Amino acid sequence: MAQLINPEEKRSIVIIGAGSIVNDAHLPAYRLAGFEVAGIFDLDQAKAGLTSKKFGIPRVCHTLADLVDLAHGKNCVYDMALPASAIISTLAQLPNDSGILIQKPMGENLTDARQILHICHEKRLTAGINFQLRHAPNVVAARKMIDEGQIGEVHDIEVRINVFTPWNNWKFLFDIPRVEILYHSIHYIDLIRSFMGDPQSVYAKTIKHPKMLELASTKSSIILDYGEAKRATINTNHGHEFGPEKQESFVKIEGTEGAIKMQLGVNLNYPKGLPDTFEYSIISEGQSWQTLDVNGNWFIEAFPGPMAGLMKKVKNPDYTYINSVEDAIHTMEVVEASHLSSDRGGTKLSEI
Ligand SMILES: NC(=O)c1ccc[n+]([C@@H]2O[C@H](COP(=O)([O-])OP(=O)(O)OC[C@H]3O[C@@H](n4cnc5c(N)ncnc54)[C@H](O)[C@@H]3O)[C@@H](O)[C@H]2O)c1
Repeated sequence: MAQLINPEEKRSIVIIGAGSIVNDAHLPAYRLAGFEVAGIFDLDQAKAGLTSKKFGIPRVCHTLADLVDLAHGKNCVYDMALPASAIISTLAQLPNDSGILIQKPMGENLTDARQILHICHEKRLTAGINFQLRHAPNVVAARKMIDEGQIGEVHDIEVRINVFTPWNNWKFLFDIPRVEILYHSIHYIDLIRSFMGDPQSVYAKTIKHPKMLELASTKSSIILDYGEAKRATINTNHGHEFGPEKQESFVKIEGTEGAIKMQLGVNLNYPKGLPDTFEYSIISEGQSWQTLDVNGNWFIEAFPGPMAGLMKKVKNPDYTYINSVEDAIHTMEVVEASHLSSDRGGTKLSEI
């Protein structure tokens, strides 16, 4: 993996939460990037203990206060990977002027997100939200190609996810009013914003699967409205239980001069995943699809990115941190608009 930060920017990390994402992605990715983890805390001490053994983390802290002491002594940054409902109360216990990376989503709704932003500003935290898809190797390659003008003006982005997701992995999702958009499609909303900016408005419908009625929603259709000749769409179905042959997980970006199609392999066999891919077609090069080797996948190669950015931002306040809470709040606005659109419903036939 390429050097992500300079030695003088490097900080040790302390982790709050020892759940699946920390074990499956954060810690393997930090090992890959050469980031040092000094300690870990989880309300479930057995999980913290097992995680520390598995990854050789030197300290398991029994309280959050112990972790804060450890972080202070070693000048660490925080890495928080908790259910969204636990973010505000945990943030409130962290010392002023800390650096912290918070797993997405930024709270359970926009009211939470605004409060999180307020706490970050009040405590002068340098803070980011872990929208790491922006750092996936195929996404980085797409951004380079777009910035170089190779596909012309981007006017259409389509995200299509037709997979079978093991929702039982996340017990905390079963009691909450917002699931699919807030916990999953949020990644694509954030990604689309990173390419197209903020939409003017949103049309959305998020619904249940008849075999998963206990989850608030597991399928969504979202249209991000960018005006007359530009749009983005996200279509997700996490209940496709008919074998891998017809499963799909891709982002397609169309420009005036070419197009890019990327497979997001992790969704196809979460969290183990299939490989990510990158294909492109450029009109002036004969409209034939080419493959680019992108060396790595969203899971796990994207995960060092938001942490490296945080370390850079802590060292240099002028650094443009693409995963900052100040940017992430706008992704939460689009998530909120999507849920509101879904609640309000479409144009009723009885009214026309
Ligand atoms: N960025 C991604 O691609 C991605 C992928 C999966 C999950 N996530 C996010 O990561 C977060 C955690 O997900 P997960 O899959 O690891 O869930 P998980 O249920 O496996 O783990 C959550 C852990 O948090 C602990 N915990 C809960 N409240 C706590 C508190 N107040 N203090 C300390 N520990 C506490 C639990 O004991 C548990 O071990 C979620 O917000 C989820 O959205 C992000």
